[in-house]
Amino acid sequence: MVDFGAQYAQLIARRVREARVFSEIVPSTMPVEEMLAKRPRAIILSGGPASVYAEGAPTLDRALFEAGVPVFGMCYGFQLMATTLGGTVDNTGAREYGRTSLAVSKPGSTLFEGTPAEQSVWMSHGDACSAAPEGFTVTASTDVVPVAAFENDAARLYGVQYHPEVLHSTYGQQILEHFLYRGAGITPSWTTTNVVEEQLALIREKVGGSRAICGLSGGVDSAVAAALVQKAIGSQLTCVYVDHGLMRKGETEQVEKDFVAATGVQLKVVDAAERFLTALAGVSDPEQKRKIIGREFIRVFEQAQAEIVAAAPDDQPVEFLVQGTLYPDVVESGGGTGTANIKSHHNVGGLPEDLQFQLVEPLRQLFKDEVRMVGQELGLPEEIVQRQPFPGPGLGIRIVGEVTRERLDLLREADAIAREELTAAGLDREIWQCPVVLLAEVRSVGVQGDGRTYGHPVVLRPVSSEDAMTADWSRLPYDVLAKISTRITNEVKDVNRVVLDITSKPPGTIEWE
Ligand code: XMP
Repeated sequence: MVDFGAQYAQLIARRVREARVFSEIVPSTMPVEEMLAKRPRAIILSGGPASVYAEGAPTLDRALFEAGVPVFGMCYGFQLMATTLGGTVDNTGAREYGRTSLAVSKPGSTLFEGTPAEQSVWMSHGDACSAAPEGFTVTASTDVVPVAAFENDAARLYGVQYHPEVLHSTYGQQILEHFLYRGAGITPSWTTTNVVEEQLALIREKVGGSRAICGLSGGVDSAVAAALVQKAIGSQLTCVYVDHGLMRKGETEQVEKDFVAATGVQLKVVDAAERFLTALAGVSDPEQKRKIIGREFIRVFEQAQAEIVAAAPDDQPVEFLVQGTLYPDVVESGGGTGTANIKSHHNVGGLPEDLQFQLVEPLRQLFKDEVRMVGQELGLPEEIVQRQPFPGPGLGIRIVGEVTRERLDLLREADAIAREELTAAGLDREIWQCPVVLLAEVRSVGVQGDGRTYGHPVVLRPVSSEDAMTADWSRLPYDVLAKISTRITNEVKDVNRVVLDITSKPPGTIEWE
């Protein structure tokens, strides 16, 4: 997957994986020889925000199309293929945006076979291809674009003007699969079972007779990574769980009980609540809180490591550190084109480079939904595998204002009620997550029982999202919201108001801090 605009590339890579073909994203700036050196069975060129005529617009070496590797261009990738190979792309100002009707002129073509002559596709472009390069057959058009798809079976080059990766393109997945299976002749064989087997072998080979440790956060990623490594090397692995006192109700107990029961892993739980609360005393600034939590986390973890190392028998040194790094993390850190630092996301396993451990990151190639499938395959309980994301700094960044023990207790109660009701209403899978935020420095007047109260509001922040990069506020049923509100104001002392956050991301981030 050659990435011409980060927004699309990850989604296309996911769709390719859904077609059970392994895919890897590379930046469009990578030299073509380097791309070819990876020996791809097929190459996909993504869409991107640029016009092929814009100054500094990304280009591609013609050699990519002449290497005998099947190529599929989408949107910008399609136009680039057209211009590079001698076709015509006009800057006519004929824009097409949104759902468009595509007229397929060659219904039996490699890409379109078995799909209707008229189909709905998602367009988003300014320039338009008016003539295909020599040797190509035009296979579809729209009212605005004469060449909306072209194919060259002899050279195994294909392209579509639209975005097959988005669900609005009704037959998009089929067209992508047609390219992969028919155009490129790939047999779909990439499954989570294969991933698990391959990783088990790799981990055993890498770790050998040595020992490994893993920081468990209670989240899906570190749990699945730990379970995988545990399955590979058994008692050579020790997991460390740092309880920073910013966890939700029942969370530590769940890790201690459910995770250990499911995996039989050796677990070291460090109770560091006092330490974190002391370090956070008097701090209200979100970035400062995040940095303090990150720093303390590393210190506690290092200490735990030292203890494990000290207790390890001489002939079995602890050489490896297991982390639940996912593919989007890898892509985002590799993509590094000056993305703004919105907030200091603290990676729970993120440790300083001078630590003397080699990393084991068995999930580096996987997306979140694939990690969940691996977790299922390993027999982890649903409560762990389907857990919604929870930030490393925990409730510490859900209290707007200073973090204190009393405020944490209060928020923990409100959060537990919201989670209980959302689960009872069967909404857990529908929403991405629902942070509950305590506005600790805001007070409002209420009337509860017979008297006046002067308490704090909590905010419900239910969001739906595919990858947390963007999110929409979830339209929760009113009766569920009503129940949560009634219960929180009745059951949580000092909270006399529940408000609903109806902001998407952007402009609001998911967490308040
Ligand atoms: P934001 O607030 O940036 O959050 O829209 C996006 C997603 O990331 C989670 N999040 C974090 N996860 N460490 C984490 O492990 C962090 O520091 C952190 N901050 C936010 C957040 O819950 C959401 O799912």
